[in-house]
Amino acid sequence: MIATTQPARKEKQTDMELSGEFLANIANQYGTPLYVYHAEKIKEQFKRLTSAFEGADATFFYACKALTNINVLRYIRSIGCNIDCSSSNEVLLALHAGFSPRQILYTSNNISFAELEEVASKGVNINIDSISNLGKFGKKFGATYPVGVRLRPNILAGGNLKISTGHDASKFGIPLESINEIHDVVKETGVVIRGLHIHTGSDIKDVDVFVKGVEILFNLTEQFPQLEFLDLGGGFKVSYKDGDHETDIAELGRRLTESQKAFQQKSGRRLSLWFEPGKFLVSEAGYFISSVNVIKETSSVTFVGLNTGLNHLIRPMFYDAWHTIVNISNPGGATRRYTITGNICETDTFATNREINEIREGDYLVFRNAGAYCFEMSSNYNSRYKPAEVLIEGGNHRMIRRADKFDDLLRNQVL
Ligand code: LLP
Repeated sequence: MIATTQPARKEKQTDMELSGEFLANIANQYGTPLYVYHAEKIKEQFKRLTSAFEGADATFFYACKALTNINVLRYIRSIGCNIDCSSSNEVLLALHAGFSPRQILYTSNNISFAELEEVASKGVNINIDSISNLGKFGKKFGATYPVGVRLRPNILAGGNLKISTGHDASKFGIPLESINEIHDVVKETGVVIRGLHIHTGSDIKDVDVFVKGVEILFNLTEQFPQLEFLDLGGGFKVSYKDGDHETDIAELGRRLTESQKAFQQKSGRRLSLWFEPGKFLVSEAGYFISSVNVIKETSSVTFVGLNTGLNHLIRPMFYDAWHTIVNISNPGGATRRYTITGNICETDTFATNREINEIREGDYLVFRNAGAYCFEMSSNYNSRYKPAEVLIEGGNHRMIRRADKFDDLLRNQVL
């Protein structure tokens, strides 16, 4: 393989990037593989959202399924953001992190009624996503516990089909064509519908999708006289590499603020806009540092084998997701093309034929955009340990989860 002489193109640069040198020091100190999160980057993203919606009545609930480390949740609370939970356990974590019930939103899918009852006992905001559960909820609580309903707006959006949730073949939400069944439940049980919710997918770049979504909801509002909020879910796209476009948040804020004002003028009703951003808040704040175990030259490909695998970062294999990979140990090295793989006993390719500064065994490779759905989707496959997590805040760093130890592998097994 022929080495080129020009230095690697910086594939991605954000305002608040942690330097390779800084990350290498952190890796030396805590070991690898290691997840590192930059608190101030989360704050910056939150500020971008709140300033984009300055003129609107908007509330943000962090979709904590992206990353639930309790220290991250506490930080998110400290910057004034609310929280969206997709399971009763996430609600418990949110309470543990100090969120009050009114700061917590619970938006789940295909859950048992027992779980809904458990969550209701905490007094949090609830969106219900099936007629069946709405009926049971109405029967038990009548008008005493107003709820939102999740609708399926029949909009196809999102980065790929696995993360598209609003289309007309999706399992999520109550299909628009079944809206009369909601009214039937309201009549029968007296349940109060205080919100309409949609979430059409993840990695949605196009602002029009959200504008179209809110218009669909505005058109339904006459049927629901007790509404307080319209919830557009999450799904804002982030940038994964140079030249990649994120959702234009300023434009989104401007257009939805206009829509909200126009609706208010026309209808005389003031409905809050709710959002549930996950990736947008934490994706770019995360770095995943790995070490190179083995370099294997073959006739056509140079494989780089890391001390991690799809057990720690499944997004490339599961969604064909792109994560920019930087060799922080050799930033000035000439670039070559590599196929970056993991150490799991099946094909776990992180990147194919990727141009990266020359890689040597022992080098640290950093995956960018590692804050959302990375640690959170990790597992102990191959009985490997889950990595540690470190939080950088105010220039200081601290471990917020230790790596697994052998005992952790046996912890829940009956010995
Ligand atoms: N609200 C609801 C109801 C959701 O289901 C989700 C994500 C969100 C909000 C937050 O979406 P975000 O802003 O993060 O795009 N594991 C996949 C993404 C799955 C998203 C699931 N639901 C990935 O790694 O791309």
